[in-house]
Amino acid sequence: MCSLRRLDALLGLLALLLLAGCDAMMFDPCSPPAPVVRGDSFVIGLALIPGGNASDLAITINAESPTIGLCNQTFQNYLITKFNAQIAVFNLRVDRLQVLRIPYPDVIFPLVNATANGLRPTMTVVAFRNNINSVPAYLANGGNDTAIGGAGFVVSLALLIRFETGVLRFLQWFDLTCNDCGGSTSQLCIRQIGVNSCATPFTNCTCGGRSNCSYTDEVFDSCSTALNTGFSGTDLNSAAFRTGAQIQRLNAFSLVSLYYTAKSAVLSQYNAIYTNIASQYASLTADANAQQTEADGFNTADRLAPVVLRVTPMCKV
Ligand SMILES: *[C@@H]1O[C@H](CO)[C@@H](O)[C@H](O)[C@H]1NC(C)=O
Ligand SMILES: *[C@@H]1O[C@H](CO)[C@@H](O)[C@H](O)[C@H]1NC(C)=O
Ligand SMILES: *[C@@H]1O[C@H](CO)[C@@H](O)[C@H](O)[C@H]1NC(C)=O
Ligand SMILES: *[C@@H]1O[C@H](CO)[C@@H](O)[C@H](O)[C@H]1NC(C)=O
Ligand SMILES: *[C@@H]1O[C@H](CO)[C@@H](O)[C@H](O)[C@H]1NC(C)=O
Ligand SMILES: *[C@@H]1O[C@H](CO)[C@@H](O)[C@H](O)[C@H]1NC(C)=O
Repeated sequence: MCSLRRLDALLGLLALLLLAGCDAMMFDPCSPPAPVVRGDSFVIGLALIPGGNASDLAITINAESPTIGLCNQTFQNYLITKFNAQIAVFNLRVDRLQVLRIPYPDVIFPLVNATANGLRPTMTVVAFRNNINSVPAYLANGGNDTAIGGAGFVVSLALLIRFETGVLRFLQWFDLTCNDCGGSTSQLCIRQIGVNSCATPFTNCTCGGRSNCSYTDEVFDSCSTALNTGFSGTDLNSAAFRTGAQIQRLNAFSLVSLYYTAKSAVLSQYNAIYTNIASQYASLTADANAQQTEADGFNTADRLAPVVLRVTPMCKV
């Protein structure tokens, strides 16, 4: 039942990616963290919630679970039942620059499944640890909601993990802006809660006539999300963290290229024009359905699938 898999991350840094529910019990994102110093291990959870409206979700989290946030079993059950929410657990090193990769298949299949179930064409992510959570951020938008603005797959997010004397205080998205993809009114600019994110257009994320195409192919790396983490504030000994400031100095595409070395591929897409989001989303869905059949469901060998959101207890029989 329990298995542990490792993912080598960029720049010789190692991000330990724990994906099975039972491992997540050893690395429990709902346990209260001890005060940290640089280099400590630090576990966070990412809840992947398809089919939601980020603003509504933020309101719902505050209304339904104001004190313990995502670590509320009843609230989790609601997210699972209503949205088929999933969780990925990551073991970070405090104050190292790390990139958490959310592979394209982990976004596209739940996304199209959500719309097949009558939900919105969106995928959101919420970072959490114990009673602290980020606001939801879109990983994908296939709708024409004017509040969100753009459509496509978000390729780069930056999470600031803020501490005060070693105690976790906030999980906040840092604004990478849409300066690299045509500005805030661009059709590739996803307006998040408080921050903007560049997206990759749908047309670049289908097999589009390529033969022997698989969503695990490298070409789809630019449709995956690189979630960059930086630490700010101070540790247990009042020493200031440095990686948060490093994240803030970079822009969306330099962060993406840290991980994917796909900068030019991504840059070539930024001026793609959506004339009709609905029809492009429909092509994307058709392509995903074909892929899903070929892949025989959701369990291709090298795909890093998040497990269904279950936290207390993770390994209940
Ligand atoms: C998403 O939620 C916000 C806040 O409740 C609301 O203002 C907005 O209209 C919603 N978007 C859609 C498309 O329903
Ligand atoms: C947990 O969530 C449920 C349902 O969303 C809510 O009724 C309950 O008050 C929450 N518990 C806490 C401690 O926030
Ligand atoms: C797809 O939706 C069905 C129906 O809600 C659900 O049972 C299934 O687990 C979903 N699959 C994924 C991968 O989200
Ligand atoms: C937005 O999408 C919906 C559903 O596809 C469609 O009915 C509606 O006309 C679209 N609105 C605009 C302004 O394009
Ligand atoms: C993305 O789409 C554009 C326009 O269709 C194309 O020129 C570009 O080569 C595509 N990039 C990738 C990586 O497929
Ligand atoms: C398709 O991909 C598989 C797996 O990579 C490979 O073994 C096979 O030879 C490929 N077929 C063609 C026609 O390229």
